[in-house]
Amino acid sequence: MIRVLFVCLGNICRSPTAEGVFRARVARAGLAHAIAADSAGTHDYHIGDPPDRRARAAAGRRGVDISDLRGRQATREDFARFDYVLAMDRANLNHLAQICPKGMESRLRLFLEFAPRAGLDEVPDPYYGGEAGFERILDLAEAAAEGLLAHIRSVHLAGTHDPA
Ligand code: 4NP
Repeated sequence: MIRVLFVCLGNICRSPTAEGVFRARVARAGLAHAIAADSAGTHDYHIGDPPDRRARAAAGRRGVDISDLRGRQATREDFARFDYVLAMDRANLNHLAQICPKGMESRLRLFLEFAPRAGLDEVPDPYYGGEAGFERILDLAEAAAEGLLAHIRSVHLAGTHDPA
């Protein structure tokens, strides 16, 4: 099993959106048995909370249900459990680097590394903005989920082809 953890600040907007979009893409590719996803926040503000109402609505408009996800905080142990720890922005990346065990740094990357054509390397924090910000994170999550799945296929699942 390949395991992916998406991380943002609160775990109520960007990272649950990324988790939901990626899971849906993995399921559509028939790879739910081979690839697992989770999400977490660098901070503890929203532990136990469902995703932000605006994030749930925006994901729902694209057929992705994230309503059953609940906030949790990223821990040092996550680096042992997940093959990929993908930060939404550089602040998240820096927080994670501080708790990353020695020798596991290669697991930690920016999510948008997998969307090279997106033209930016951070998923903008939509929390204090309007609805458009949530549509934007869905666009970015869809692009990066596609690139991430292609990467995982080529590195870990050679020989599988995409029926989707
Ligand atoms: P997220 O958005 O990191 O994408 O979940 C935020 C959620 C909550 C806060 C900031 C960003 N907050 O300050 O509570």
